[in-house]
Amino acid sequence: MNKNIAVIRGDGIGPEIVEQALKVLDKIADLYGHTFNYTDVDMGGCAIDKWGNPLPEEMLKRCVESDSVLLGAVGGEKWNSVPGDMRPEKGLLRLRAGMGVYSNNRPAKIWKQLADASPLKKEIVEKGIDFIIVRELIGGIYFGEHTTTEESGEKKAVDVLAYTESEIERIGRIGFETARKRSKKLCSVEKSNVLDSSRLWKSVMHRLAAEYPDVTLSDMLVDNCAMQIVKNPAQFDVIVTENMFGDILSDEASMITGSIGMIPSSSLGATSCGLYEPIHGSAPDIAGMDIANPIGTVLSAAMMLRYSFDMPEEADCIENAVSAVLDEGFRTADIMSDGCKKVGCSEMGDLIISKLERK
Ligand code: IPM
Ligand code: MG
Repeated sequence: MNKNIAVIRGDGIGPEIVEQALKVLDKIADLYGHTFNYTDVDMGGCAIDKWGNPLPEEMLKRCVESDSVLLGAVGGEKWNSVPGDMRPEKGLLRLRAGMGVYSNNRPAKIWKQLADASPLKKEIVEKGIDFIIVRELIGGIYFGEHTTTEESGEKKAVDVLAYTESEIERIGRIGFETARKRSKKLCSVEKSNVLDSSRLWKSVMHRLAAEYPDVTLSDMLVDNCAMQIVKNPAQFDVIVTENMFGDILSDEASMITGSIGMIPSSSLGATSCGLYEPIHGSAPDIAGMDIANPIGTVLSAAMMLRYSFDMPEEADCIENAVSAVLDEGFRTADIMSDGCKKVGCSEMGDLIISKLERK
């Protein structure tokens, strides 16, 4: 197959981790007879420096016209003082909205080789951590009206959290369908004891439940969910939630797996053109030092093959290679533990490539 991939290296460690993922994709192309064409896209702080805009229209166009987008990370201290709508993160939000990718899928899965890295007690980890957070990505407070006004010398800032029934319904369906493919348990997370938008969320989820009788729907308040994720993560299989709750809970969920650097994500909308990125940030403090963990990005590329290009064997091949490298005790600094062998970012990339083999 011939696929066009828009590549956003971004800021901080973005370029070095993306480089490893591209090396892996090239080897996959060789092994399976595909052609992957890469188109560079500037987004984030580097685009602000170059174009005065975190996502120029032409760059968004390249992404929308591609078969899928691979992203490293954006942002950094350097751009912290620029106005809100010119921040690097605004480029990412515009990209998500421009691509219409409303469904963000963030797996929280513990790798058996890294179980010791979890900050949770062994007896909790042993019960298993393997769930998915389906996060609504282009609505809610991130995309509501943002205003700052000043009256009698006092500033007031307002961010609007709004959801329509149809926005809730389309992400709700993704939640039910994801649960259907797994253990058929869906937990809808909201704050319906306080927020109208959450009460609407809950009522739409229950209306949809009638169409998915094989899936058991439960409701959980977001504050309780934050607690349950550390108390008993084994109870979860698929969580569906709105944009900001999903942002917060997915960081918490990644932490309990012990290694945020390992976690990929996919964002999809109505078409197969998706956005694939690791969930960690741009880590400017270690940028350019060749010590970052590229595995989250490599696994994001695997998700791209699986979900957008319908290449499950190729995706398995990458995931098995990562697992084989971990089995041999190779670790980047963030997941290092006693008795393991510490490697840098590009060396980790090379090791993964050395384990790629066509079954
Ligand atoms: C994430 C990030 C982004 C978000 C930021 C960088 C805008 O935290 O992907 O979780 O809040 O969605
Ligand atoms: Mg986040």
